[in-house]
Formats: sequence, C-alpha cells, structure tokens
Amino acid sequence: MAAQDDNWDGTRVRALLKQRGQLVEEHLSSCVSQAGTPDRLKESMRYSLLAGGKRLRPVLCLTAAGLFGVAPEKVLPFACGIEMIHTYSLIHDDLPAMDNDDLRRGRPSNHRAFDEATAILAGDALQADAFYSMTLCDLPAGQVLAALRAFATAAGSTGMCGGQELDMQWTGQTVQLSDLEHLHALKTGAILRASVVCGALLAGAGEDALEALSAYGASLGVAFQIADDILDVVSDTETLGKPAGSDEEQHKNTYPSILGLERSRELAREYARRAQDALRPFEGDDAAFLKGLALYTVERVN
Ligand code: IPE
Ligand code: IPE
Ligand code: MG
Ligand code: MG
Ligand code: MG
Repeated sequence: MAAQDDNWDGTRVRALLKQRGQLVEEHLSSCVSQAGTPDRLKESMRYSLLAGGKRLRPVLCLTAAGLFGVAPEKVLPFACGIEMIHTYSLIHDDLPAMDNDDLRRGRPSNHRAFDEATAILAGDALQADAFYSMTLCDLPAGQVLAALRAFATAAGSTGMCGGQELDMQWTGQTVQLSDLEHLHALKTGAILRASVVCGALLAGAGEDALEALSAYGASLGVAFQIADDILDVVSDTETLGKPAGSDEEQHKNTYPSILGLERSRELAREYARRAQDALRPFEGDDAAFLKGLALYTVERVN
C-alpha cells in the first residue's frame, strides 16, 4: 500500500507545501507583534518576515513531526522560529558587506527599504525572538530542549554562520569541489537538515529514525543550494524575486561555476535521490510528501 502512495506528482507536493505554508503564515504574524518593540524595528522585522517565501523549512519541521503522529499545531511555535532565523539570515546575506543584493522576496531588500543599522538589528532581533518562540511549544521540556540545542548548533558558528563566513572568505578564490560541498552543507544544508531533525526531536523520535532523517535533510540541503546556484544562472529576477546573475557578478563559488550547468543539474538530482532513499524506513503521507519535497527542491522555479 505504501508503495502505491509513494510517488506524489509535483502538483500534489506543491499543493500541500502551500497548504502547510499557510498554517505557518497564519501563526508568523503573532511572532513579530510584541508590545514594546520600537515601531521602526517592528516594521522592519515584519517587512521581511511577512513578505512571502516558500516556507519550506517550517513545513519540513511540521512534516517530520507528523511522521511520529504529532499534530502541526504542537510544533508551530518552533517551526515559525525556524522561519524567523531563516529570514534573519536572508536580511544579513543581502547587506552591502555581504552579497550586496537590493531585492529579496520580490521587494527591496531590508536595508534598502529601511537602512543598514535597522536591517542589522531586525536580523538580530528576529534571531533572538525566534528562540523565544521555539521555547513555547507545548511538548515535553526535554524534547524541546534537544530541538533547541540542535537548531542553535545548525544556525551558529559550526552551521549557517560558519558557512556564510567561508562563502565570504572564498569569494573570488578558486576552490575544490569538496570545499564547495562543505560550504553548501554549512551555509544552507545545516538549517534545512536541522528543520527536519528538530521536527523529529520535538516528537521524541528514536535514534534510528533521527539518523535516517538527518541523512535525508543533509542531502536535501545540498540539493537545495545547488538548485539555488543553478537558478541564479538560468532564471530571471522577476521569477526569483531576487537578483538573477548575482553570483557571477560577485565571483561567488557555485556548482555551475565549477562544474557547469549540466553536471550541476545531475548532481542536484543525485542528492535529491539520496534524500529520498534515506526515507525508505518510513511510510504514509508525511513520508511521501517529504520524498516529493526532495524532488521539488531541485525542480522548483524559484
Ligand atoms: C534562499 O532560501 C536562501 C538559500 C538558503 C539559498 P529560499 O529559496 O528558501 O528563500 P525563501 O524563503 O523562499 O524566500
Ligand atoms: C545564502 O546563500 C544562504 C544563507 C545562509 C542566507 P545565497 O547567498 O546563495 O542565497 P540567496 O541566493 O541570496 O538567496
Ligand atoms: Mg550569500
Ligand atoms: Mg545571497
Ligand atoms: Mg544564491
């Protein structure tokens, strides 16, 4: 029975991503409406957080928890915290000192709509407020603590921030493919992997399940960033909602710059397949959706 349900087509995957993304959307606004936040800071945080976006990371978290029978509502404060941290990383990534990009999620980047100081502080505040939101999950405290620890590790110096540092250091230099793989695993892979793993940790999953989901998330994460690099070359600014061609302009190391487009596409698909294989132990709709999301990651248009 599982085999028959296992191969969701892209339309079904995108429909459920939208539906679960909507759930996230509804809760997100309440995460950035604290009384006592100075108006301009609040406006800047809301500007970037509530600007759309695929909401892939929080949906991965909700869906991973769903594998173990935990309802999405239970995990929402954590999932929204993930999206807040992702949004902070985008605001900082666009700053003149980093990628210097003027468009994000189809509108002027935060530092263009406000100013650099406000953009830096909106990112800082989103990160701290995210961890606050994550503590609000009505689940056993040990499970919440384990998830908090895993997510902090993924977002910090040994995860996303570490990857962003390598990205900046190596810009304009020639690097090996193995270095680029490491860079992608940190700057993008760590948070995507942790989004999945934290859903399982919140649900109190056992070691074997955690290992399988960690392998799924790690492969999905690298596939996602390869696809992001490819889209930067082949897509257009309007479709992406961020400046196309930015990587080449800034002499970034990307999969297409090292391997060319065709080989990059093959590798992205290979990582997506590896992600799907890692989910073999799981059955049911949530597992089929996660498998579909691995393919979506490399077939998406934005
Ligand atoms: C963009 O992430 C940044 C990367 C890690 C490549 P997304 O492509 O998920 O951006 P949104 O959230 O949909 O805007
Ligand atoms: C950045 O990668 C990933 C983050 C940690 C924000 P990119 O610099 O390629 O992301 P985009 O293309 O600007 O979204
Ligand atoms: Mg960048
Ligand atoms: Mg960027
Ligand atoms: Mg990019």
